[in-house]
Amino acid sequence: MIVDEAWCAQLPFHPETPTWALSAGADICVVSVHKMGLGFEQGSVFHLQGGLVDPIGLNQCADVLSTTSANVMLYAAMDGWRRQMVQDGRSMIDKALER
Ligand SMILES: Cc1ncc(COP(=O)(O)O)c(C=O)c1O
Repeated sequence: MIVDEAWCAQLPFHPETPTWALSAGADICVVSVHKMGLGFEQGSVFHLQGGLVDPIGLNQCADVLSTTSANVMLYAAMDGWRRQMVQDGRSMIDKALER
């Protein structure tokens, strides 16, 4: 099962948000980090779990569709946001939910 979670980058970082697709058993979910996360447009990623989808084949499909000139700022922004969410995501989402 592949789930479009374009607007759900924040879900894995707080228990009171809706269940993240991978926690619900999806094989793949696709997330646009630039929507509810922080980053530059085209900062979309896929997450893979389980054994139903061959990771090498999936990467080969992604390679066909992706640029060969990756933008390091795009990756750096996504990694910085991921780090911030691991460290402070729960408290930041707590504040948002309070509001
Ligand atoms: C539900 C949904 N899926 C996918 C996309 C496309 O995402 P991306 O901006 O990563 O191409 C959008 C864009 O708004 C969307 O709303």
